[in-house]
Amino acid sequence: WGSLGHRTVAYLASEYLTLNGSTYVANLLNDQDISEAALFADKVRHMPMFNYTAGWHYIDAQDDPPRQCGINIKRDCAMQDGCIVSAIVNQTARIMNESTSHADRGQALRFLLHFLGDIHQPLHTEAEERGGNEIPVLFGHKHTNLHSIWDTEMLVKHAGAEEDEKANALTWAKKLFAADQDHARSLTAECQDLGKAAKCPLLWANEANKWICKYVLKDDVAGVENKDLSAKYYDGAVPIVEEMISKAGRRLAAWVNALAVHALESR
Ligand code: ADE
Ligand code: ZN
Ligand code: ZN
Repeated sequence: WGSLGHRTVAYLASEYLTLNGSTYVANLLNDQDISEAALFADKVRHMPMFNYTAGWHYIDAQDDPPRQCGINIKRDCAMQDGCIVSAIVNQTARIMNESTSHADRGQALRFLLHFLGDIHQPLHTEAEERGGNEIPVLFGHKHTNLHSIWDTEMLVKHAGAEEDEKANALTWAKKLFAADQDHARSLTAECQDLGKAAKCPLLWANEANKWICKYVLKDDVAGVENKDLSAKYYDGAVPIVEEMISKAGRRLAAWVNALAVHALESR
């Protein structure tokens, strides 16, 4: 997602955090705004010092949509530095490790705040044309690409222009939180197995990837290439974006709450 999406996921997660969870976050972030902390991974991904993190934002599922979708972890996460699934596993282990310093746990949390968002963006779980980056599309009169409209354009059209981005993100997050009828129940229903196994991130990546066949590329690349996607395609995409941003915020909160419980118990 672009910055509006990441900020919304982070603000939504804050709404769901337990008291212990928000204390844990405030401590590790040294009171930095959580939506700002969620952008860290994008700020550093092109820096030479952090080049090993560039592949951590996605998993390139190589099935053949729209006929076939699905993640094969061995096949799709084979890069040297890993992928978004292994990054979530590793940063979770890093933050739970008692010998990790305060600063490094802060960095691990910043990565998690970001990657639990990205893993819910359907095109961050898809290899086709570099996750749609190489598929030219129109959005109104703007010449852009499929990846970019899913990261940014459609979210901005739905939740407000980028000038007061933090305010727009907070308003959207509060709306998504209010739409959830049973906060406690929806939290406990989320996968929060912090163990080494990639169970939860794999579940999430598969769920996001299903939308590639069901909607994003349902009429193949030809169905979207060079088309204006700001009308009918956008209308059909909004409920998917809302669902995935909601799930990301909820799952991030469940994950962080569980990390905070682990931190309490291991003191
Ligand atoms: N680069 C290669 N594949 C990508 C994807 N699915 N999302 C973002 N960047 C990518
Ligand atoms: Zn993206
Ligand atoms: Zn990212």
